[in-house]
Amino acid sequence: MAPPRPIDGTLLKQGAEAHVYKSTFLLPTVPCLIKVRPTKPYRHATLDMRLTKHRCVSEARLLNRCRSMGVLCPAVYFVDEKRGEIIMEWIEGPSVRDFLHSHLDGASDPDKEQNSIDVQLDSLMEAIGQTIGKLHDIDIIHGDLTTSNIMLKRRGNSGSMPEAQQTGPALAITEESFSDFDVVLIDFGLGQVSNSDEDKAVDLYVLERAFLSTHPRATRLFNIILDSYKRNCLGSAVVLRRLQEVRLRGRKKSMIG
Ligand SMILES: Nc1ncnc2c1ncn2[C@@H]1O[C@H](COP(=O)(O)OP(=O)(O)O)[C@@H](O)[C@H]1O
Ligand SMILES: [Mg+2]
Repeated sequence: MAPPRPIDGTLLKQGAEAHVYKSTFLLPTVPCLIKVRPTKPYRHATLDMRLTKHRCVSEARLLNRCRSMGVLCPAVYFVDEKRGEIIMEWIEGPSVRDFLHSHLDGASDPDKEQNSIDVQLDSLMEAIGQTIGKLHDIDIIHGDLTTSNIMLKRRGNSGSMPEAQQTGPALAITEESFSDFDVVLIDFGLGQVSNSDEDKAVDLYVLERAFLSTHPRATRLFNIILDSYKRNCLGSAVVLRRLQEVRLRGRKKSMIG
């Protein structure tokens, strides 16, 4: 395994599987994200190297496959499999998680035109259902479909941005129409290529759990996602039937403890 290099960037997240930095790529005006899989000292060195390499290459391949098939995700700029590093396009925008919090929590604000926000939220959920439908139609299982791993990117954003914006607070979508945003999937670290209906159903189940735990009002929104998935994914009928079984298993499991 190549020794880790010092990363010139801001550490955003130090998870068990990956450290994630915001940095720039080639030009100071092009922001990027560097995802590094750190070595695990408790693992056998050769095994650790193989696993790190495998996961890094697998994630980069899935990202490339998605993009080439029209599912929006970050472009891969550079992969250093020996160091377990992926350098990718920086997605400027909030995660669906932050987005739902800011918009659903503000729901009681009488100054907001709630009806128009609701209609726009619905169309955003439609777009998420469509994206996941497309992903499953090309036989990619995301593996960790949470609301943090779905981002909203401002349309027409080439990736570079004015200096002042780079250090600004996390984006909240305020005045603009939600339809100015694209749904972008990130974090394919647990993803795989599979045509199994069971795998696809589990993907949806993970998202369902994430939605319901993100916000109490999100139940209605998740149903719009499923409805859109049903209309936009060729194999949806079988997957949605399977989802019922996965839910039952999940319930039994939580009853047993
Ligand atoms: N391409 C990207 N552009 C902007 N932010 C990103 C990007 N990829 C990841 N992030 C941010 O970093 C966080 C962690 O990255 P992620 O790939 O999800 O790793 P983990 O496996 O640790 O969840 C994400 O939740 C998101 O906030
Ligand atoms: Mg993640």
